[in-house]
Amino acid sequence: MSKGRISVVTGGASGIGAACVRELAASGNLVAVVDRDIAKAQAVAAEIGGKAYAADVGNETDVEACAAAIERECGPVEVLVNSAGIIQVPVRPHDLPMSSWDDVVRVDQRGTYVACVAFARQMIARKHGIIVNIASIAGMRSMPLHAYAPAKAAVIAITECLAAEWGPSGIRVNAVSPGYTLTPALKNAIDRGERDVSALAANAALRRLVDPAEIGRVVAFLASDAASAMTGANVPVDCGWLVATSWNSYGGLREANG
Ligand SMILES: NC(=O)c1ccc[n+]([C@@H]2O[C@H](COP(=O)([O-])OP(=O)(O)OC[C@H]3O[C@@H](n4cnc5c(N)ncnc54)[C@H](O)[C@@H]3O)[C@@H](O)[C@H]2O)c1
Repeated sequence: MSKGRISVVTGGASGIGAACVRELAASGNLVAVVDRDIAKAQAVAAEIGGKAYAADVGNETDVEACAAAIERECGPVEVLVNSAGIIQVPVRPHDLPMSSWDDVVRVDQRGTYVACVAFARQMIARKHGIIVNIASIAGMRSMPLHAYAPAKAAVIAITECLAAEWGPSGIRVNAVSPGYTLTPALKNAIDRGERDVSALAANAALRRLVDPAEIGRVVAFLASDAASAMTGANVPVDCGWLVATSWNSYGGLREANG
């Protein structure tokens, strides 16, 4: 079904992006790994017989040049997954420098939009394309992440706006909102004491963190013909964190039934 398709994953050198690269490659896609860390992108690309490209998603000149190079060297891009992103320290607003706020918004929100626009240009001309944006549960609930959470809410809104805009041109645009997923970014935040791993797991209905491969599989589904009627959706993949957190007002999740 998806044999021989050309797919692009931004942020594909690490974590959730790398898991998406591996999953798409396993289902027969030729995958272009786009990342600002070219050495890591090359390592992941070598693993799956793909190609690596350097780009900073916050820089539209970079991304436009990268999109043109991939079309020229690999062929027509059918699938774009936007996973490039950075997280933030959970500090109070007055302790969050505006330069940090700008960095998060620039990569997570602006970078997602820039990549959608750059790669959709040729998709629109061909009247066919599939985009999956990696948002977050942080975009769906209030959190002490005053740059990251609004930026991820914007990714969900961007997904909905572009799905309506480009649906008539044959392009599907969906989002996946991961819960706490054990990637290098989250591991580093845990090691620095910025996230409490037992609290993250305890507040999910399945009482564990998400494995990056579990995100990759849902992204591959959304990118496949099996999801041909889905556009504008935001799919949480969070081990049930969203449904469980409000139970804290009732003393928290109960012990297992039975
Ligand atoms: N790990 C989680 O718990 C979690 C939860 C929800 C959402 N997410 C989202 O998933 C995505 C991937 O996160 P991850 O945890 O795998 O992080 P990660 O740090 O392991 O991987 C992110 C990748 O993006 C690349 N990148 C960062 N800025 C870039 C830029 N400006 N241009 C190009 N590449 C850039 C990095 O070099 C890295 O390879 C992010 O959008 C993140 O917000 C992660």
